[in-house]
Amino acid sequence: MSGLYYFYTMPVSGPKSYPSRVAVVGDLGLTYNTTSTVNHLLANHPDLILLVGDVSYANLYLTNGTGADCYSCKFPETPIHETYQPRWDYWGRFMQPLVSKVPIMVIEGNHEMEEQAENRTFAAYSSRFAFPSKESGSSSKLYYSFNAGGIHFIMLGAYIAYDESSDQYKWLEKDLASVNRDVTPWLVATWHPPWYSTYTAHYREAECMRVAMEDLLYDYGVDIVFNGHVHAYERSNRVYNYTLDQCGPVHIAVGDGGNREKMAITHADEPGNCPEPSSTPDQFMGGFCALNFTSGPAAGKFCWDRQPDYSAYRESSFGHGILEVLLLVFCR
Ligand SMILES: [Fe+2]
Repeated sequence: MSGLYYFYTMPVSGPKSYPSRVAVVGDLGLTYNTTSTVNHLLANHPDLILLVGDVSYANLYLTNGTGADCYSCKFPETPIHETYQPRWDYWGRFMQPLVSKVPIMVIEGNHEMEEQAENRTFAAYSSRFAFPSKESGSSSKLYYSFNAGGIHFIMLGAYIAYDESSDQYKWLEKDLASVNRDVTPWLVATWHPPWYSTYTAHYREAECMRVAMEDLLYDYGVDIVFNGHVHAYERSNRVYNYTLDQCGPVHIAVGDGGNREKMAITHADEPGNCPEPSSTPDQFMGGFCALNFTSGPAAGKFCWDRQPDYSAYRESSFGHGILEVLLLVFCR
């Protein structure tokens, strides 16, 4: 039915073998900027691609193919939530030159929910990618883990229950406990909305997930976290509970792949940009956990009045990241 394509699988698990380059990209969509990002990705010759959510943006189109401003729009006169599924096919054909040669591992973003009749969600997303859920002991395609040489990747779902009593949390506890750091010294976690972003867009929107899961990831010494969702780049210093901590992970948001929504530019710590706390619930999970800071220079306030200490670098431009694992560094 198609031509034959070949790709290299990941190196076997072990502390001495690593994929030479891991590309990390988020919020791709299918635009002029996506073309530029994917061309740069191809030129960087990665061995593995991590796509940190928000894939085709099909849910920003009506069933007649017209672009819309609402997610999975539902109009009173129609019985359905609208998406335009051919966008998934366009996206697949567009990505073929890259993903026919390089393995891609994906975690879902909010644009993959695509709410349908009878509350069905993530149908296209779950059908179009392969997930090693069973192999990693997960009962859902929406969270799983895998090894690539000496790196253990944990892929978490931000749009499925994550509290302590949830299946996902229990699975994460088990998965973290089973990691042998002598075999996979590096522990990388990925999910869609960032916990540590200082942009006004989606500011502290994933706070409920942070409150639920940060201790667990910290206790097991996660090295790096990759996120998307906010359409800009930001890298944190090592952080735990908003405080600099040498045993906390570095959080890197790369939701700047290039899509039809606009770039995030303003920061919540700039004059006049701090949102009202009541305006920042998680619009997808419905939780509200973001409160004023209780310690540090921003104690009693919802935003810092300068770039927070935990924010190391931020830049609004389209692109992708390359992760090269060169050294073994333990922090216990
Ligand atoms: Fe998103």
